[in-house]
Amino acid sequence: MKIMRPLVYVVALGLVWWVYSLPAPEFGAALSRTLWLGLFATVSLYLALLPGPLYANVPGAPGRRAFVHARRAFGVVSALFAGLHGYEGLFGWVGGLEGMQWWSWDYNLALGLGTVAWLVLLILAATSFDRVVTAMGRRWKQLHRLVYVAGVLIVIHAATVTIHIVDLKPYAAAWFVALALLLLLKLLRFRQRASPKLDAIGVTTFGVAIAALYWSTFAISHHRH
Ligand code: HEM
Repeated sequence: MKIMRPLVYVVALGLVWWVYSLPAPEFGAALSRTLWLGLFATVSLYLALLPGPLYANVPGAPGRRAFVHARRAFGVVSALFAGLHGYEGLFGWVGGLEGMQWWSWDYNLALGLGTVAWLVLLILAATSFDRVVTAMGRRWKQLHRLVYVAGVLIVIHAATVTIHIVDLKPYAAAWFVALALLLLLKLLRFRQRASPKLDAIGVTTFGVAIAALYWSTFAISHHRH
């Protein structure tokens, strides 16, 4: 299983190399890099979050040891992809800090939320190595719960920032299904442990989260400047 983390790092570096070697499309290299790197950052973070709730609900699902071992590496490469995505997005596509004045306040707010999310991912990546995990003891788990704060900020960032993809529908559908599945697995895991009193709170929170996800994915425009 030890091969899993180096494998994730090598594949991630290969993807970065691929993104930077793509020929520039007519709308420029920065936007295409922003889109690809944003996709890879999001998928890596998803893969870091999935094993916990997945194997808690389906202990016999295949690949358990390898996937759980790879989890931390997915978190680290997510911070790498997100940093490059943010750099290309802000300094390439938006026109840097000066360029922000030409975009609406809500677009700039979306970029700000993305930046906070990235800073959280960076802190988590920097503290994700065995030595730090041992040194921090129980505090490590508490600190790493911040990944859910980053996750929520990323969902708000992606829902509110303008997305320049011509046919967004299939991506939006995949986004909704993947996040709804993760939320469902989290709810089921919560119900395994929670008292009947807390159960109602869990189910209500799940319902509100699914409604908010549906609304932010399908009911609002993803093309405002
Ligand atoms: C570092 C701060 C960040 C900045 C400055 C930033 C900037 C941007 C920009 C400019 C876009 C719009 C691209 C377009 O016009 O189509 C965008 C979209 C997006 N961002 Fe970010 N972002 C940041 C952090 C993040 C993080 C941490 C994630 C996830 C891990 C993320 C995921 C996404 C996704 C999924 C989209 C929509 C599709 C795409 O462009 O890939 N962003 N971001």
